[in-house]
Amino acid sequence: MFAVTAARIDADDPLAGLDLGERPDPSPPEGWATVTVKAASLNHHDIWTLRGVGISPDRLPVVLGCDAAGVDENGNEVVVHAVIGDPALAGGDETLDPSRSLLSERYDGTFAERVMVPRRNLVPKPAALSFAEAACLPTAYLTAYRMLFGRSGLEPGSTVLVQGAGGGVATALILLGRAAGYRIWATSRSGAKREQAIELGADQVFPAGARLPERVDAVMESVGEATWAHSLRSLRPGGRVVVCGATSGQAPPAELNRVFFLQLSVVGSTMGSRDQLGRLLRFCEQTGVRPRIDRTLPLAQAADGFAAMIAGDLFGKVVFTL
Ligand SMILES: NC(=O)c1ccc[n+]([C@@H]2O[C@H](COP(=O)([O-])OP(=O)(O)OC[C@H]3O[C@@H](n4cnc5c(N)ncnc54)[C@H](OP(=O)(O)O)[C@@H]3O)[C@@H](O)[C@H]2O)c1
Repeated sequence: MFAVTAARIDADDPLAGLDLGERPDPSPPEGWATVTVKAASLNHHDIWTLRGVGISPDRLPVVLGCDAAGVDENGNEVVVHAVIGDPALAGGDETLDPSRSLLSERYDGTFAERVMVPRRNLVPKPAALSFAEAACLPTAYLTAYRMLFGRSGLEPGSTVLVQGAGGGVATALILLGRAAGYRIWATSRSGAKREQAIELGADQVFPAGARLPERVDAVMESVGEATWAHSLRSLRPGGRVVVCGATSGQAPPAELNRVFFLQLSVVGSTMGSRDQLGRLLRFCEQTGVRPRIDRTLPLAQAADGFAAMIAGDLFGKVVFTL
């Protein structure tokens, strides 16, 4: 089958390790299902893999891709939950299973004609969502859902700052947060992306690092070093920063004085459970929210999507179709 794989690791030139070509068909063990992929979406995770972050070279070659929507062997339209883990080992939350992995880490991912996953990782796709829309949800949107509704501790009406408005997670935070009644403020390095964030539903937008009109209840942080100091500075006393990523670097000064003196909380968040993915799909159905897609490309042109993400030249998700 045709697939897009990480063949080599290159920290400085991630595209150099990308390989497009034939891979063996999956042969699912007992309890696993094969999904014929209709659409898959790109995440920064795929770039990290090519850079060698979060994966060891002995796992290669591995088919990239965490997210997919497609059709199972029985003809059911499904969305694939990307977290491979056992909820029974972790109080009902598979993201807390110490040996959990995401698709494309231990098992081949979704950038292929077919992908195999544990049968419990299949979630019915609502007819209201296209395959392309559904394929955006399992990583970026599920992460945003848990950050906002699981980890922020905030009621609707609260003010939430989203750092780096253009990214997949960030656009998801704006869309989901707005639909749930939060007041969403957003930053971006780019004036054009700030305008797009307003169109998406942000209440106000600011250049990266700008002083805000007032302090916010929570900051949604996926950018890391480039925005961390601003995130801490922007919080009201007792506020909370929810962090799911560190695209620009993972070791900013911790500013512990600010954390303890203002009694701030720093809370990590990763992906979401299968049950939360089910609720996210229903949230989209009920509210009419649809993922923001920057561009849709045939899987055979995947390299163009990777290049755009590496360049930071995106507003929303890149979807690959088959
Ligand atoms: N923990 C989890 O489960 C989880 C799940 C999904 C993603 N993540 C992580 O979250 C991060 C975002 O993922 P994504 O898929 O949304 O990636 P993405 O689409 O590539 O978004 C990255 C965004 O970061 C912003 N950014 C601001 N300053 C930056 C700088 N100096 N350098 C680079 N980027 C900068 C950019 O926003 P502007 O251009 O608007 O400034 C850019 O759009 C990644 O690090 C990813 O690994 C974690």
